[in-house]
Amino acid sequence: MTGAIPCGVDIEELDTTDPAARRTWFEVMERAVRADRPHALVTTLGAVEVTMTSPSTYFARTWLQATVGGTVVGTAELELPLNENTDVAWAEVDVLPTHRREGIGRALWQAVEQRARAAGRTRVGGEVTVDLAVPGAGLAFATALGAREKHREDHLLAELPVAAAPIDPDYELVTWQGRCPDEHRPAYLAMRNQMNADVPTGELDLEAEVLDDARLAASEERLGRAYDVRVAAARRRSDGTFGGYSLLFVPHGADYGWQDDTLVMPEHRGHRLGAALKAANYAGLPQHIGLVHTWTAPTNTAMHHTNTALGFHVVEHMHEMEAVIA
Ligand SMILES: CC(C)(COP(=O)(O)OP(=O)(O)OC[C@H]1O[C@@H](n2cnc3c(N)ncnc32)[C@H](O)[C@@H]1OP(=O)(O)O)[C@@H](O)C(=O)NCCC(=O)NCCS
Repeated sequence: MTGAIPCGVDIEELDTTDPAARRTWFEVMERAVRADRPHALVTTLGAVEVTMTSPSTYFARTWLQATVGGTVVGTAELELPLNENTDVAWAEVDVLPTHRREGIGRALWQAVEQRARAAGRTRVGGEVTVDLAVPGAGLAFATALGAREKHREDHLLAELPVAAAPIDPDYELVTWQGRCPDEHRPAYLAMRNQMNADVPTGELDLEAEVLDDARLAASEERLGRAYDVRVAAARRRSDGTFGGYSLLFVPHGADYGWQDDTLVMPEHRGHRLGAALKAANYAGLPQHIGLVHTWTAPTNTAMHHTNTALGFHVVEHMHEMEAVIA
């Protein structure tokens, strides 16, 4: 894709050593995202600060911004996986509503694409999320840049408390916050890796991330700086086998949580453990947490049913897009 940067617009890399610049980048990104997505889950400044100030061993990240007369009006983020999927780059582009349809999004995309290509990547993936009621430009934009949909998920919300979902009496709940206790780590790693291998990704052609103890520990340490991380797991009473887990994040200072993985291991399915694990995590939250976000592929009938039975309802459609840049 070629094209000039619009007159008066500068595209530059964010100076991540400058705290005020980091905050401005975050605030512009958040305003741009929220403009047409009233239910958006936007990352927090705290989480962005962790990724901007302490580079990860597993992903290389670059933040870009578009300025007009020295004012930031658009942002982009480029993420390069370093361990697996080394042909892929992940990207997001956001432009303030006051500056849309002026070619700024395209200019940011071109800067992303150029860097992705220079890093040897042949495809760029990104999520475009669209509210059910408010039209957004994301899909038309991504399509205009040559991206195609590879997978779709629903974004659902539930107000707390959710419907009761007691655990099957053959199982007991094991819960922790933050770092997984040593005695559960092998079983937890096995479940996390099963999840990474099992999660439906539609036509997205991706290698599953493989977690070992060191990678789990690094992720726990980084996540703990921005989130209260809560895990509820189910252990079969008869033999002590772990049958599933559910992972919930509450950003520090937030009044909502977001549901990450929920997995029930194949031989433990059919006991409604997914609902019980989610409900157990929500029941343990502090009183001021009133809302939980989650995502499920519409084709994942079992999880969709679990979610709607708990009280979740769909608010947005998330499209996983991919552009070939080779
Ligand atoms: C999507 C977004 C980044 C576009 O930014 P922008 O600066 O307005 O984009 P551009 O002006 O460079 O548009 C590039 C092309 O995208 C398409 N496009 C952009 N907005 C569009 C809209 N509202 N309707 C139809 N096509 C649109 C057009 O083909 C456009 O080219 P054209 O103006 O020559 O016709 C911006 O609307 C935004 O921030 N939306 C919210 C966040 C989001 O959805 N980001 C995408 C996820 S990566």
